[in-house]
Amino acid sequence: MKPKIVVITGCTRGLGRAMIPIFIDAAWQVAGCGRDESQLAELRHQFRPPHFFEVCDVSCEAEVVSFCAAVLTSFGPPDLVLNNAAIINPSAPLWETSASDFSRIIDINLKGPAAMMRKLLPAMLERGSGVIVNFSSGWGRGTAAGVAPYCATKFAIEGLSMATAQDTAGKVAIIPMNPGIINTDMLRSCFGGGAASYPDAADWAKRAVPFFIQLGRKDNGRSLTVPA
Ligand SMILES: NC(=O)c1ccc[n+]([C@@H]2O[C@H](COP(=O)([O-])OP(=O)(O)OC[C@H]3O[C@@H](n4cnc5c(N)ncnc54)[C@H](OP(=O)(O)O)[C@@H]3O)[C@@H](O)[C@H]2O)c1
Repeated sequence: MKPKIVVITGCTRGLGRAMIPIFIDAAWQVAGCGRDESQLAELRHQFRPPHFFEVCDVSCEAEVVSFCAAVLTSFGPPDLVLNNAAIINPSAPLWETSASDFSRIIDINLKGPAAMMRKLLPAMLERGSGVIVNFSSGWGRGTAAGVAPYCATKFAIEGLSMATAQDTAGKVAIIPMNPGIINTDMLRSCFGGGAASYPDAADWAKRAVPFFIQLGRKDNGRSLTVPA
């Protein structure tokens, strides 16, 4: 049987990195991207072809075009796309956030997943199956002080996903996903030492990957959360 293919954006650290070995243990082939070339080289060394790790800044349209073309050429339409790559703003009220920092978080967290979907969905729709998970957050469904730019992008991910789900009508399922709260670089950047009381990414991935693998048409447009 042809192996299943998963695309993971932001696979060099955190949740994206932790999911790689779990998918490989489940006999999936992984195509991952991030910006850190040295981490990607290490991934290539550790996880040999057909797994595939390339530089792609999801906020750069040309890099998304080239990464997605390489995925489609090497593997064909993916079975699962995890739009995981994101950043968070340094904690500050909106009026102390520069216009360029605001644009940057929109470019990565919102325009990145949109670009990936634009490039991968046509082939997935043509085949007539597949799942796209767009990483949202608790801060995509509720708010907190100091993270307005991040909240704006994650609320937008919910809307982008649910509306795109209506366009695909479930032929490819589009799902906004709150991963939960996990001790990663991102969490440490906002919770400091308090992040240590949350599960680490490796433990989270053992729960999250089986949950992602069973997603399908029935879940199209549903706002889901990785079970604790
Ligand atoms: N951790 C949590 O508690 C939590 C809670 C709610 C939601 N989330 C969401 O879960 C996802 C993963 O978060 P995390 O905690 O694993 O974050 P993280 O530890 O900061 O890792 C983020 C990953 O995204 C990549 N990335 C950032 N900007 C990128 C860009 N422009 N292009 C390509 N890759 C980029 C980073 O790699 P490079 O630096 O190599 O590019 C890194 O691999 C995010 O969508 C986040 O919003 C996390």
